[in-house]
Parts: sequence; C-alpha cells; structure tokens
Amino acid sequence: MNLPAQIRIVEVGPRDGLQNEAAAIPTAIKIQLIEDLAAAGLADIEAGAFVSPKWVPQMADSAAVLAGLKRDPQKRYPVLVPNLQGLEAALAAGAREVAVFAAASEAFSQKNTNCSIAESLDRFGPVMERARAAGVPVRGYVSCVLGCPYAGEIAPGAVAHVAKALKDLGCYEISLGDTIGVGTPLATQAMIAAVAAHVPVEALAAHFHDTYGQALANLLAALEMGIATIDSSVAGLGGCPYAKGATGNVATEDVVFMLNGMGIETGIDLLRLAEAGWRVLHHIGREPQARVSRALWQKRQKSQA
Ligand code: HMG
Ligand code: MG
Repeated sequence: MNLPAQIRIVEVGPRDGLQNEAAAIPTAIKIQLIEDLAAAGLADIEAGAFVSPKWVPQMADSAAVLAGLKRDPQKRYPVLVPNLQGLEAALAAGAREVAVFAAASEAFSQKNTNCSIAESLDRFGPVMERARAAGVPVRGYVSCVLGCPYAGEIAPGAVAHVAKALKDLGCYEISLGDTIGVGTPLATQAMIAAVAAHVPVEALAAHFHDTYGQALANLLAALEMGIATIDSSVAGLGGCPYAKGATGNVATEDVVFMLNGMGIETGIDLLRLAEAGWRVLHHIGREPQARVSRALWQKRQKSQA
C-alpha cells in the first residue's frame, strides 16, 4: 500500500465538537481544551466560529476564546466564517487563519447557511479578497460529500464542482466533509477521484464524521488516494447542528492510534491527547465513548484501582 509517511491532523473538536454540545461550555474550559490540545502536539486547532449566535449559540464566545488563549506562535488556530461580517469579527478578534464552508447539496446549503450553493460561493468573493488583503489564509469546507440528511445521495461531480470553485476562489486547502458519516470506502475513493481531477490531492483534506462507524475505514481509503491531511475531533466530540443525527467527527485518538500502528508520523502524544479529552468530558459530565479514548480510560481506571 502506498501511504504518506507523515500526516497533518487538523483538530476540530473545539469548534465542530463543541458547536453541537447541548451543555453550555464556559469560555475558560474551551481555552483550556485548546491549550491542552496544543500541548499534546496538535499544530492546527480550529478554535471557534464567527457565525450568527442566533444560529449557533455555542460559538457565541469565539472572540473571547481567541482573546484569552495563550497562542503558540508555531501553531495555527483557524476559525469558521460564513460571510464578510464573520470575517471582520474574526480579524478584529485576532484570527490569523479562517475557514469558509459550502455544501455539495442545495438542501443542506439552505438549512446551514440560508442560501443556495451559488449564493454561498458569491458571498465568498469579498471574503477571500478581504482575507488576502489581511494576509490571512483561507481553508474551504465542502459539506455532504458522501450524502445529505435532506437530499440523500450526492453525485461526486457535485462535490468536485464546489471543491474546484473554492480552490479557484483562493482557498489553500479543501476539506471534504462527510457531514453525516454515511460514506463507505469505495464511495469515498470514487468521490476523491472525481475531486482530484480538478483539485490537486495535496490540497485536499478528509473530514469524516463517524456516525455509522465507517470513518477509519474511509480514512484509510482516502490515504491510499494520497490524502495526507485529516480533520478529527478529540474524544469524537461533535456533530452538526443542521444535520440531525450526525454524531461526532472521527476521534483524534482513534486516528492517532491507527497511524501510530502504521508507522505514520503525526507528532502527537496520544496519552496527553486523551487526557485533554477526558478533562473536557469531565466538565460535560460524560465518560469517554470514542474507542481509543475509552480503552485508555479503562486502563487508567484499572491501574488506579
Ligand atoms: P441569515 O439569517 O440569512 O443572515 O444567516 P443575514 O445576513 O440575513 O443576517 C441576519 C442576522 O444575522 C443579522 O442580525 C446579522 O447581523 C447576523 P440581526 O440584524 O437580525 O440582529 N449575522 C451575523 N452575526 C454574527 N456573525 C455573523 C453574522 N452574519 C449575519 N457572521 C448565516 C446567514 C450564514 C449568517 C447563518 O446561516 C449562519 O451563521 N450559519 C452558520 C451555521 C453554522 O455555523 N453551521 C455549523 C458549521 S458548518 C459544519 O459544521 C460543517 C463542517 O464541519 C464540515 C462538515 O462536517 O461537513 C464545516
Ligand atoms: Mg463537521
């Protein structure tokens, strides 16, 4: 198998994870989580979202999170922005990298951003221009790349169209989101092949939710296609507020454990990572559910018994 020697992991738990938690998480706990993740070796940590607080109240304190964070100058702390208003707020809060998000499904685009796919892409024109002027790199997400909670199946060509549009707009990387985790390995490879015909595979990332337990298998399928950037969420936190039933992202611990076993370098300390997850779960009032986190947790409990 031809696999990358090194994988970059983009930790999305503090954003994709916490945006979907029913419990209100204090700003200080979010900051602690991000700092714990940085200490565990993560270099890219999505720190929040400058979206409408009426739509996603869980992210309403993102400016306070950025203000309170002790930032390591070697690391990146991107935030999500849906429009120019979000970008201006993110820049004012000191964001140095942002991400825009579009969908491969019209129905999902309407539910998530209250506009069509074409309108969302139009909206990003001025966002990209402003970000460029500010010297801030922009990442692009495509949601529903392997299925939509409202429209069902999504054609790989529809994903390729949106991914190419985001790349042409100037996004340095396109993250392919299986928002509801329905993908399976061969469908994943067919979708990546369609996208890679228009966007270099080096500029693609895999953002898979683990709703149906397929994420690790799909990630291996993506690695085989040459993808070397993976989005994941500590302790498998997460979901999407506009995709009913979508559970968390693939857990970062599960990804790191798999990659460690395959001799692929990530630079992440697995135990410190798991501890970062346990700390935030303790606050939320849950025991670890994601497999590797739970296995390490049970081992720790036994050794302390
Ligand atoms: P809208 O209601 O159509 O916006 O929402 P509008 O432009 O008509 O403005 C309405 C109000 O929102 C106004 O306030 C604006 O000021 C305010 P009012 O006058 O009523 O008091 N507003 C904002 N406030 C703060 N920040 C902003 C902002 N923009 C407008 N940036 C909008 C359109 C896009 C804003 C809204 O639909 C929205 O915020 N959507 C975000 C939804 C979201 O965050 N979803 C989750 C993230 S995406 C995801 O999880 C998928 C991903 O993980 C990949 C995957 O898994 O597939 C990335
Ligand atoms: Mg997501």
